[in-house]
Amino acid sequence: MSETFDVAVIGAGPGGYVAAIRAAQLGLNTICIDEWKNSKGKPSLGGTCLNVGCIPSKALLESSEKFFQIRHKVSAHGITAQQVTADIPVMIARKDKIVTTFTTGIASLFKKNKVKSMHGRGSLLTHDASNNLWTIKVDDNGAMETIQAKHVIVATGSTPRPLPFAPIDNAMILDNAGALALTEVPKRLGVIGAGVIGLEMGSVWRRLGSEVTILEAMPGFLMAADEQIAKEAKSLFAKEPGLQINTGININSVKLSGDSVVVNYSDANNQEQQLEVDKLIVAIGRIPNTAGLGAKEAGLALDERGFIVVDDYCRTNLTHVYAVGDVVRGPMLAHKASEEGVAVAEMIQLIEQGHENPHEAVDFNTIPWVIYTAPEIAWVGKNEQQLKASGIAYKAGQFPFIANGRARAMGETSGFIKILADEQSDRILGVHMIGPHVSELITEAVVAMKFSASSQDIACIVHAHPSLSEVFHEAARGVDKRALHI
Ligand code: FAD
Ligand code: NAI
Repeated sequence: MSETFDVAVIGAGPGGYVAAIRAAQLGLNTICIDEWKNSKGKPSLGGTCLNVGCIPSKALLESSEKFFQIRHKVSAHGITAQQVTADIPVMIARKDKIVTTFTTGIASLFKKNKVKSMHGRGSLLTHDASNNLWTIKVDDNGAMETIQAKHVIVATGSTPRPLPFAPIDNAMILDNAGALALTEVPKRLGVIGAGVIGLEMGSVWRRLGSEVTILEAMPGFLMAADEQIAKEAKSLFAKEPGLQINTGININSVKLSGDSVVVNYSDANNQEQQLEVDKLIVAIGRIPNTAGLGAKEAGLALDERGFIVVDDYCRTNLTHVYAVGDVVRGPMLAHKASEEGVAVAEMIQLIEQGHENPHEAVDFNTIPWVIYTAPEIAWVGKNEQQLKASGIAYKAGQFPFIANGRARAMGETSGFIKILADEQSDRILGVHMIGPHVSELITEAVVAMKFSASSQDIACIVHAHPSLSEVFHEAARGVDKRALHI
């Protein structure tokens, strides 16, 4: 006889584990099934984000930035550091320790919240209309079990999009997992894809000494960002020693040759070029992960790109089956996955209480984006291209970090903040930042937009002096041409 639950969550990434905790907090008997194994072959909760994504990448970005600062930047403060070296295995071990702390932390959170954790691959088998229960098969390396649950939340995440002629071996040709596990600095590093992973991973290894060449198919750079921010980022990155970004290229072949990887490509002028590197990172996007879920057999609708089809409330076409995170439409971001997980858990509780109508959909317009390069890039809401395309009249206020006292004191003066507000109502429609610590500053913009603030509202709020947040304040004043320090 299978054990029966109110809620079964398949996948323990930031979408799934958060959904499971929230469901359990609401008194629902919850199980979370996850198949992830770490490099030692041990089950490890937290999905992509904790194991090979957000957390380890930020750990290495921090370590490499510290090294780079000491080596190249602290001399301006009158500090001399000699014979600065980076011990890469120590850096990687520190990153691994942070990962383990968090992944085992989820196991503790499950215990505390009475979420049952089960290792193995979960697949939807059948739905029994007589008792309204789903049967789920759990395959742990051939050991089969079934469980039953009234509600199923699919949170199976995403995997790297493969480049057919560049198979990942994580020795010479790396995906994100391999790029986070190198034990020495490659002298020459190639990256295919100038997206978020390419830029972040390229930054890590460039700061540690690699000559990095990024090859990007699109003619433009950071096409999802506001054009002005992308332009500023490109010109700042172009000044970085050891970093070259080639856009508008077409990869023709990738071959291993002794200790090198040789990439043949056509450049933006259609000229044949060759790049020879010691390691190659392939980061050309991610695809939804429905392998082994039994989607087809269960009749779970997928779209033409393989994403599970959901409505605004993350409901699939199947009774009491929901899907959240990277496996559904929308940005592939951990905080988006978690927010959807919470929303679905709370909706299930309402359904259990007899309300069939969903409460609130996750608001995609106020989901922040951050790219953890130096300087950092962050945005929320609409950019100028989008506003122009939708014919929305807007006004813009902008302020540079170079005119901010705190940024000057830090020696981090690159970049600016731009606020876009509706021309008539002054309501903030989008905020775009490039500069120091904008990963933290963007939250003020998110709060402002969530509360439908106007630029005038922000201009009226007292910001601490001296602080980087004054740049946001001045940009808000700038919307009505009232900036003071420029
Ligand atoms: P995942 O985290 O992918 O988790 C899915 C889980 O489900 C996995 O454990 C998987 O093994 C398991 N699973 C899959 N199928 C089954 C099955 N059938 N049965 C059981 N288990 C299954 N986002 C940010 O917001 N900020 C960042 O800084 C950031 N940095 C990133 C850096 C890198 C290098 C990468 C690759 C991604 C980064 N992301 C970042 C994106 C973020 O990691 C994802 O958006 C997030 O992990 C998605 O969460 P999820 O729960 O949907 O899926
Ligand atoms: P991405 O979509 O950000 O970038 C992929 C890039 O590869 C694009 O610029 C694309 O034009 C390019 N590309 C595609 N095919 C190509 C080809 N054949 N040759 C050359 N270039 C090609 O995807 P990425 O970087 O793999 O990251 C996946 C997702 O993970 C991101 O979109 C983001 O959602 C998430 N992520 C978020 C982070 C954050 O929030 N800071 C950090 C890292 C990842």
